[in-house]
Amino acid sequence: MTVQVLNNISFSVEKGEFISVIGKSGCGKSTLLYILSTMDTDYEGDLTIDGVIMRDKKEKELASVRNEKIGFVFQFHYLLNEFSVLHNVMLPGLKLGKYSEKEVEHRAYEKLKVLGIENEARKLPNQLSGGQKQRVAIARALINDPLIIMGDEPTGNLDKKNSEIVFHIFKELADVYHQTLLIVTHDNEFAARTNRIIEMEDGQIIKM
Ligand SMILES: Nc1ncnc2c1ncn2[C@@H]1O[C@H](COP(=O)(O)OP(=O)(O)OP(=O)(O)O)[C@@H](O)[C@H]1O
Ligand SMILES: [Mg+2]
Repeated sequence: MTVQVLNNISFSVEKGEFISVIGKSGCGKSTLLYILSTMDTDYEGDLTIDGVIMRDKKEKELASVRNEKIGFVFQFHYLLNEFSVLHNVMLPGLKLGKYSEKEVEHRAYEKLKVLGIENEARKLPNQLSGGQKQRVAIARALINDPLIIMGDEPTGNLDKKNSEIVFHIFKELADVYHQTLLIVTHDNEFAARTNRIIEMEDGQIIKM
């Protein structure tokens, strides 16, 4: 049986934009992000990333597009507890293989500095607070200087104070580093402060 979740979705994201995606539970936000991030390939139509159409690419090529061009932050941090904070941030960089291990380590440390958590570099993830863990996850998403960061309710698990910290980090990344961000959120205050809101309902974009 085929279930059509999304319908007639069309939009583009320009470099440096900070965009939020909102809409009721079940409207298709996560499905949209999974398609845009090439993790879900079961769609009709075209997805173009950095001028390249993703259709017909093999899973291996898509994996490399994801690792090089897309940073992903989830509601849960998915950090590996057997590795230090610094090593967790390094992992996608080591996988990319563009820089030596020493360089990746240096870059990871710089990202932790941007997020204000460089003092936690040698700790294990489970020694950090929820807000700190989410910042480590953002540092990890940044390690390969992705074209875009996609987030699926990255503040969904955080209290008000930590949500605010994460929002300001995203805002700084957008304003200072021209980092492109596409963030699904249930928090209307968060969305209201982004550059553009994409509102979905029943698998469609109803407002943009
Ligand atoms: N693999 C699948 N097979 C069948 N239905 C699916 C599948 N994945 C998602 N759906 C359905 O598609 C719809 C959209 O789901 P999706 O997870 O994208 O919503 P969402 O907007 O992210 O919701 P939430 O805010 O709760 O995270 C839902 O009705 C869901 O049940
Ligand atoms: Mg969802």
